[in-house]
Amino acid sequence: MALRTLADLGDLAGKRVIVRCDLNVPLQDGAITDDGRIRASLSTLTQLLDAGARVIVISHLGRPDGERKDEFSLRPVATRLGELLDRPVGFVPTTIGDATTAAVDQLADGEVLVLENLRFNPEETAKDAETRQGFADKLAALGDAFVSDGFGVVHRRQASVFELAAALPSAAGLLIERELDVLQRLTTNPERPYTVVLGGSKVSDKLGVIEHLLPQVNTLCIGGGMLFTFLAAQGHHVAKSLLEHDQIDTVRGYLERADELGVTIDLPTDVVVASAFAADASHEVVPADAIEESSFGANGIGLDIGPETAARFAAAIRASNTVFWNGPMGVFEFEAFAAGTRVVADALTEVPGLGVVGGGDSAAAVRSLGFRDDQFGHISTGGGASLEFLEGKPLPGLEALGWSK
Ligand code: 3PG
Repeated sequence: MALRTLADLGDLAGKRVIVRCDLNVPLQDGAITDDGRIRASLSTLTQLLDAGARVIVISHLGRPDGERKDEFSLRPVATRLGELLDRPVGFVPTTIGDATTAAVDQLADGEVLVLENLRFNPEETAKDAETRQGFADKLAALGDAFVSDGFGVVHRRQASVFELAAALPSAAGLLIERELDVLQRLTTNPERPYTVVLGGSKVSDKLGVIEHLLPQVNTLCIGGGMLFTFLAAQGHHVAKSLLEHDQIDTVRGYLERADELGVTIDLPTDVVVASAFAADASHEVVPADAIEESSFGANGIGLDIGPETAARFAAAIRASNTVFWNGPMGVFEFEAFAAGTRVVADALTEVPGLGVVGGGDSAAAVRSLGFRDDQFGHISTGGGASLEFLEGKPLPGLEALGWSK
């Protein structure tokens, strides 16, 4: 079945349209440090407002565990949305209830209102479907139609993502359409060579995607904290570097399977080892099979891929026609350990075909390193969601909109 799109909702002038966005942006001391997800939501919101809809924006922010916690309020997000839309944006500090209903009743055609964080209500993320349904019905009573545009959350079976889509006439927004279009190009006859670069701290978060992608890619480059579990699987000592002992056998299995399939798993040949996990820690580059021989001995901690590895990954990326990258190569938040991530990001801007940055964290990483969004083929707004898509898992938030593979 095909995804329902905005056109399926007909004329929305004067209609109250609830739009589920993923405005889960990083905040530091109440200030938004990366507004990429807000910007990614603008096209749908603008189209609806220009069509004369009364737009009610709903989203989660962080994981407040079903309680009101002021640091997770969407108020600063509503303010930023107003700046980006260049029109007044109302905000109501409740998600459902009398104050919300009154604010929605006052909306005029072409006006927009942001409701408070959905996850201040425990029903939003309840395990029990009936509880979620009850919350979705209360949300549905606020609108005439529902547009689901929070791609970053489509892998969650949550009230505003799943049940709400069945409670009102519903369709996908433009962001979800764009994301699906790109991700489908990664899974259906991708142009070759196809390289996937995976980083981030834990290999256990990436098992599904590695397993699923191995038979599809030509090269899989491994960086980030998870590289040390791969090195351990090859029999190397990794000193105090991040290591998931319980995944060593699984990872060894991937290395064997890659050999059978003729797929290259490109593992680091050099790493940056530090004396401690700190921005100003002493550090040096050592061969990946001699981490314990650094000046820090058994206390060394690997915090980035080395320059030789970064150059090799970059060459593989530049020579590919399709590249998907998820997860930083090192602790890019510390300048001394950002080089690997920067080199990979730089190479991705030069992919002749489709170069995709997958995920909230990876997107925030490239922006914080000074790259512009338009330098990449696509920056996905969904980390977990894009990985689960590539794993071929069912995505409740898309199925609820009529989509199936
Ligand atoms: C994300 O940041 O990946 C999405 O906003 C989903 O958030 P969650 O992992 O807390 O459900």
